[in-house]
Amino acid sequence: MKGVFYFSLAALMVSVAVPATALSDSSSGKALYTVKDGYKVDPDTMQGFRTWRAAACDRCHGPNQEGMVGPSLLEGLKVLSAEEFKTTVLAGRLDKGMPSFGENPRVSEHIDQLYAYLKGRSDGAITRAKVEQMEK
Ligand code: HEC
Repeated sequence: MKGVFYFSLAALMVSVAVPATALSDSSSGKALYTVKDGYKVDPDTMQGFRTWRAAACDRCHGPNQEGMVGPSLLEGLKVLSAEEFKTTVLAGRLDKGMPSFGENPRVSEHIDQLYAYLKGRSDGAITRAKVEQMEK
């Protein structure tokens, strides 16, 4: 019993020890997001934050993505794949109160950046919701 506990604890520690500051997007090899000091982000991730604001996702998911009418995206993005995220946002889940943003170019044209920003928040690498663009 004890052995099992230590084994799973070790597995957990390995999974959280993965450096999250520059998580790479496996398809392109490019970092999904880059963050310094918890809130200074690369231009694409900054665009993701602007998209989040422009689409007012916060009115249902909360200003810190922790959930209100809609669920916590900090938790949700630990489970959803990038593709599942995109499908959910673009098509919505109309029967469950999640609107579709596929017709909104401010969202559809920046869906990858939006994902990068929210994934950085969910990973705990971006430590506050309001980010700033890092200096070069
Ligand atoms: C009018 C309220 C509302 C707005 C605005 C809204 N959502 Fe949602 N969203 C919801 C609800 C409610 C759900 C839960 C749907 C369900 O039960 O499956 C949800 C679900 C989601 C999910 C799936 C979470 C999971 O764990 O499966 C994602 C991702 C998401 N929303 C992202 C966004 C993004 C990004 C925006 C802004 C572009 C946004 N939402 C705007 C209400 C909203």
